[in-house]
Amino acid sequence: MLGVYSLLTLLLASTAVAHRHRGRHVHIRPPSSTGAAAAAHPTTYSNYLFRFTGTDPVNVDEILDSLQPYGFNMSHLHHTFSETMNGFSALMSDHCVGVLKDMVTPDGVQIEPVVTMKLRVPVASTIPKPQRPFVDHRKRGAHIRHNHVHTHYKPAIRPRGPGFSIATRIGEDPVESSPASSAIPSPSTVPAADDDVPAEYDILQTDATWGLQRISQRNPILGVADTDVNGQNFKYKFDESAGEGVDIYVIDTGINTAHKDFGGRAKVEFVAQSLVNSEGPGDFAGHGTHCAGTTGSMHYGVAKRANIYGIKIMGRSGGGLSSDIAAGIEHMVKRHRQRRLDPTFRGSVASMSFGLDVATADLGNSSVISKSPVLDSVIMAAAAEGIHTVIAGGNQGIDACRVSPGYLSRAVGLRGNYSASVITVGAADVFDNRADFSNYGECITTYAPGVAVLSTYINGDNSTQVLQGTSMAAPHVAGLVAYLLGLRPELKEDVQGMKRLLTSTAGRGLIGNVVDAEDKRLVAYNGVDG
Ligand SMILES: *[C@@H]1O[C@H](CO)[C@@H](O)[C@H](O)[C@H]1NC(C)=O
Ligand SMILES: *[C@@H]1O[C@H](CO)[C@@H](O)[C@H](O)[C@H]1NC(C)=O
Ligand SMILES: *[C@@H]1O[C@H](CO)[C@@H](O)[C@H](O)[C@H]1NC(C)=O
Ligand SMILES: *[C@@H]1O[C@H](CO)[C@@H](O)[C@H](O)[C@H]1NC(C)=O
Repeated sequence: MLGVYSLLTLLLASTAVAHRHRGRHVHIRPPSSTGAAAAAHPTTYSNYLFRFTGTDPVNVDEILDSLQPYGFNMSHLHHTFSETMNGFSALMSDHCVGVLKDMVTPDGVQIEPVVTMKLRVPVASTIPKPQRPFVDHRKRGAHIRHNHVHTHYKPAIRPRGPGFSIATRIGEDPVESSPASSAIPSPSTVPAADDDVPAEYDILQTDATWGLQRISQRNPILGVADTDVNGQNFKYKFDESAGEGVDIYVIDTGINTAHKDFGGRAKVEFVAQSLVNSEGPGDFAGHGTHCAGTTGSMHYGVAKRANIYGIKIMGRSGGGLSSDIAAGIEHMVKRHRQRRLDPTFRGSVASMSFGLDVATADLGNSSVISKSPVLDSVIMAAAAEGIHTVIAGGNQGIDACRVSPGYLSRAVGLRGNYSASVITVGAADVFDNRADFSNYGECITTYAPGVAVLSTYINGDNSTQVLQGTSMAAPHVAGLVAYLLGLRPELKEDVQGMKRLLTSTAGRGLIGNVVDAEDKRLVAYNGVDG
């Protein structure tokens, strides 16, 4: 049977040189090796990630079929990737890999072993647990101030659940949509005009984290020495649009979507195959919930009206397979393509707080780099689709250009273009110093708050946690990009234009503790004061 099969495949391959797939040609040629014979003695098996690098889509099913006579076992297939990634991941013998390499022409196939990516929280960090009681912010919460009566009246935070109140124009009383409820209070009560009034239709949140204040002023925060940086005594000023209509994909450990601070805006969209049975969509690590909270939760988040979509590619262990991450990214691209048909859609942002490790022994050796070219090209493909991509720069305290995927901010793009599309973020503290653990250098697009970051967590639906890492800095910028998309619809899918806006708005030359002359020393800023 095996002989008949392989003969059939060879005939198919040599006669039908070009297979049609959606009207385009993919060239497959017969393998030069005597495959069937060698298949009886497969050597080593490993999990591999494959990506066809030609510009034409490839019919992956057809290729898998033709590999079976060479010992490929269909039940060792993990994912097939279509549009974005154009490849698959599977457990395969090295013999079978050789056959595949031989078979695909003219553009070839990228191949790499499946690797494990890690969350970007410092390994040895000791994390303080603030035992802060939940505060009723209706009494001392955030405020909206309107200077003028506006004909196109829009409530500051739309009621999306019990407990949300509607902001009103000056002279009207706040309206409680459900006064009896105990859910999230709204930053929406309207005080009488006072001297400290922000611009028209800006919202001032007065129970913000330091990180939110930092990204809403160009200059460093002064006088913080006596203030609890883990607390909520800071002010965040933002335009009331707050990222509405923008989708933020938090590619992470899942999200505690029941947390009240999300007000129902967070959903888990995708769970990696290897986690479906063991964990499901819940967040058992906390990391994804914390990052999601920084992108857009009501009290701890930047873009308070954005849609938050969890792409769960890691579980409680804090590590995840590159093949699962690729599958999650492909799902995101498919959703982005659907969503862009919706007239209310204002853009997609991917927040990625993971990456490769560098062995401790190699940290000091600058010629050791840690890259994952196949997954990196998937991330670049998502950016090329018009998804604004924000990546944690890494916590090894080394040049950010040495590790995947953060180095992509300076990488050459898929089609040979120098990529200005991906945004890589370093971590800074409240004094505008680079955190010692933060990677640095020319691959850091901007710094953002990444030390003492308070956000939503998994110990209950009001729980919070203080964490640090470039993991925490990246979601500040992902939220900021979502916020800027709300204000600049012409940048909806213009990832390079958004990156230019972000870097031109940022506070310049402010970061201390810099160890690399190439470092641009920028601090992310929302430009609210012009
Ligand atoms: C294919 O793989 C499955 C799962 O590992 C295994 O049970 C099965 O025996 C394999 N089939 C062949 C023909 O090796
Ligand atoms: C969450 O906060 C609300 C409002 O203060 C309170 O009623 C509720 O008991 C809190 N829930 C938890 C689990 O702490
Ligand atoms: C640094 O890494 C390179 C590449 O792995 C290696 O060849 C070289 O020996 C290393 N240098 C030192 C000093 O360890
Ligand atoms: C590079 O990008 C520009 C626009 O950003 C585009 O016009 C050009 O065709 C691209 N070059 C290649 C080789 O894809």
